[in-house]
Amino acid sequence: MTAVSDGLIGTTAGLNMDQAAQVHAYIDLLDRDSRDVPDVYRWTNPLPGVALTVPVERYTTRAFHDLEMEKVWTKVWQMACRVEDILEPGEYVKYDIAGISVLVVRQRDGSIRAHRNVCLHRGRTLKERDGRADSFQCPFHGITWDLDGSLKHMPCAWDFPGVDGDWPLKSVQVDTWGGFVFINLDPGAAPLADFLGTLPDHFERWPLEKRYKQVHVAKVLRCNWKLAQEAFMESWHVVATHAQLLPGIGDTISKYDAWGNFSRTLTPNGIPSPHLNWQPTEQEMMDALTDRNLDDDVKVAVPDGVTARVALADGRRSHLEGDLGADVAQGLSDAEMCDSMPYTLFPNFHPWGSYNRTCYRFRPYGNDPGMSIMECMILSPYEGDTPPHGAEVKWVETDTSWTTVPELGLLARVFDQDDANLPFVQKGLEDGAIDEVTFAEYQETKIRHFHMVLEGLLA
Ligand code: FES
Ligand SMILES: [Fe+2]
Repeated sequence: MTAVSDGLIGTTAGLNMDQAAQVHAYIDLLDRDSRDVPDVYRWTNPLPGVALTVPVERYTTRAFHDLEMEKVWTKVWQMACRVEDILEPGEYVKYDIAGISVLVVRQRDGSIRAHRNVCLHRGRTLKERDGRADSFQCPFHGITWDLDGSLKHMPCAWDFPGVDGDWPLKSVQVDTWGGFVFINLDPGAAPLADFLGTLPDHFERWPLEKRYKQVHVAKVLRCNWKLAQEAFMESWHVVATHAQLLPGIGDTISKYDAWGNFSRTLTPNGIPSPHLNWQPTEQEMMDALTDRNLDDDVKVAVPDGVTARVALADGRRSHLEGDLGADVAQGLSDAEMCDSMPYTLFPNFHPWGSYNRTCYRFRPYGNDPGMSIMECMILSPYEGDTPPHGAEVKWVETDTSWTTVPELGLLARVFDQDDANLPFVQKGLEDGAIDEVTFAEYQETKIRHFHMVLEGLLA
C-alpha cells in the first residue's frame, strides 16, 4: 500500500477548523485503506460562503417555477434518456420537462435526433408515450414528419399556400455522455462537453457507457422538485431519517466537493457514525448496512480480526470478480467498494460513481411547483458489445411504498424514509412561518452549489 503523502489533492481554504477536520477525517480513512485509493477520492474542492440561505419562494411559487422554465429548463443540458432506450431505428422516447415535450429519436443511420413533440399545424402533441415508428403522423389531420423531423406527407397541401416542402419539426439539440442522451432546448447553447466540464474525468475508471439501464422506477412526489433532490444531496439527514444505518455509516465524516456545474458526496460505509454514543461491534456495523444496499440483501458475517469495512469490501471484490476478473477486482480499494459517491450535475441528474449502480433524476411534475417526479435507475454491466434494451419505466403510485417495486431491493425502504419527509417539508415551507431556508455550510455544500449555479442563470 502506498500512501499519498499530501493526503488530499486540492484545498480546504475557506473552511473553518471543524469543517476542515471533517475533510481530513475522510482523507485519513483513505490513508488507512487496504489498497491504493484512486486520486479522484482525494480531489478536494469545498465551496464555503455562497448561498447560505435562499428564499422559500423558490420552492413554493408558480412565479419562481415560471422563472426556472425561462432561465433553466429551456436553456440547460438535461438528461433525457439512455442510448439503449432507443436501440433500433425509429425508436423514440418522449421526454417531458414541465409543460414541454420532446421526442428523442434513433435515426436510420444510428445517430440520435430530438424534435419538439408538437405538430406544426394546430399544435397537437404527436406522441403520448414512448414507442417505435417509421414516421410521426399527427393523429388530428394526418400531417406526417420523417424520423429526422423533415416534412414527409402533407394531406391537402394545395390548401396551405404559405407552406412549402421545407417545414421541419422544431429541432432540439442532442448529445451523449456516459450512455446518457442529453437534450438542450436552446438552439444557441454551448456544447454539452463545455457544460460537463471535468465531470468525465471523475468517471474515467467507471465508464457509464459500459452499463445498461436494468431498472427504471418513477414516482410523483408531493413536493417541489428541488426539495426532492436536495433530500439526496447530503448525508447529514441519516442521523434522524435513517437512524437504523448509524452503526455502519460515517455520516458526518462525509466529504463534499463542487466543481463547475457538478458536485459530489463521499460517505464512508463500514464505520460507525460519530453521532452514536455507543460503540457498535464490527458485526453490528455490517448488519446496519445490509439493511440498506441494493447488492447486499444477505447478512454477511464479519470474520474475527477483520473490520466491517474490509469485510464489506472483500465481499464486493469477490462479487465483482465475475465482471472484472480476479486481478482487477482484488485490487479495488475499500473506498471504491464501500463508500457512497453520488454526483450531481446541474440541474437534476445524479449518477453515482464507483461500482454503485444507482442514478437519480428529479423533475417538476407539469407546472405545479408543489409536485415533482423522482426517478431511480439501476445501471448494470453487460456482456458483449451491444447493451440489452433499457428497461421500461415502472411507476410507483403517489403515496405508495417504493417496496411495491421488488427490483429496488432494500433501497426501497430507504426511499420510503426519504420521501416520508417531503410533503411535510413542502407544507412547512408553504406555511409562511419562515421566508428563507438556511443551509449547513459544509454538509450542505452540494445544495448550496446547486443554488449558486441556479442564481448564476437567474442573474
Ligand atoms: S393538428 Fe396536426 S395535422 Fe392538424
Ligand atoms: Fe436519505
